[in-house]
Amino acid sequence: MEMRNLGSSGLVVSAIGMGCMPLSVPENRPTENDAIGVIHQAIEVGINFFDTADAYCQNQSEIGHNERLIGKALAKLDAATRSHVVVATKAGLVRPDGRWEPDGRPVHIKARCEEALKNLGVDAIDLYQFHRPDPRVPFIESVGAFKELQEAGKIKHIGLSNVTVLEIELAQSLAKIVSVQNEFSRKTRKAERDGVLDYTRKHNMAFLPWSPLGGIKAAKGLAAAEPMIETIAVHHRVSPQQVVLKWMLLLASHIIPIPGASRKESVVSSAAAINIQFKLEEFETLNALTL
Ligand SMILES: NC(=O)c1ccc[n+]([C@@H]2O[C@H](COP(=O)([O-])OP(=O)(O)OC[C@H]3O[C@@H](n4cnc5c(N)ncnc54)[C@H](OP(=O)(O)O)[C@@H]3O)[C@@H](O)[C@H]2O)c1
Repeated sequence: MEMRNLGSSGLVVSAIGMGCMPLSVPENRPTENDAIGVIHQAIEVGINFFDTADAYCQNQSEIGHNERLIGKALAKLDAATRSHVVVATKAGLVRPDGRWEPDGRPVHIKARCEEALKNLGVDAIDLYQFHRPDPRVPFIESVGAFKELQEAGKIKHIGLSNVTVLEIELAQSLAKIVSVQNEFSRKTRKAERDGVLDYTRKHNMAFLPWSPLGGIKAAKGLAAAEPMIETIAVHHRVSPQQVVLKWMLLLASHIIPIPGASRKESVVSSAAAINIQFKLEEFETLNALTL
């Protein structure tokens, strides 16, 4: 497995991580045993970086569902394997009646951190990300809560999600930010245009593309959306999803895609994407095409 620096955190993680949202959010999510099996499979193929959030659940009554799954999966590992795993979780969204709504109040973020520590079974969270700015709360106040949690030793590193360059700069004026997680896929290349991809590279932050395959529903239709991807995939005897992941890895060395998965086959396939050897023309073709 190729490894990459998680920004300036000092943590080294697999170049392909695992997004754990599909284990908790879909109606047809896997059973707890199966979900833990998918996480263990990911570790077996060399993935050591897991992205979760307290809000990855079906509604507010089961908030923390995804964190608890990860906590249970980690508890079954031997100490040596466990010591290499890096978990990134988030706070700042709530799920009333299954909706996604921001709550960036410091009091909320601090309370969620206490729960996340219990859910994950850790003394300190490796990477705690602010899920999304809350228009009702000054952004700097929300970031201040993360800074206080870090000073209290409850979180090791701070990350942001769904932010602009201006917001990253503002957060940096208060705290060290090691990663930014924004949407980035073949159909959503906004991070290239709005400067976030470039800014994070220049400031030694990891960029974690969310929904790198276009999201839980669209991921299966990649080939139909872009026939060129299918052509390249057939040529290399790989899948269109693998082509997209490798393309992303080649774009820049601070990019660490976190494809979601609810099946073991998906994590095995995503990890293997690293081995594809594109010709320069193929990479350039992929780069030039935008949906
Ligand atoms: N910060 C945010 O606001 C935010 C928002 C959305 C997502 N996220 C994070 O980003 C992660 C990824 O996004 P996502 O899960 O929404 O969408 P995604 O990664 O674009 O697509 C996920 C789907 O792709 C399929 N898949 C994964 N690897 C595959 C492969 N190698 N071959 C074929 N199919 C494959 C999976 O199928 P199976 O389910 O059948 O395995 C899964 O359901 C999430 O899990 C979450 O951690 C963050």
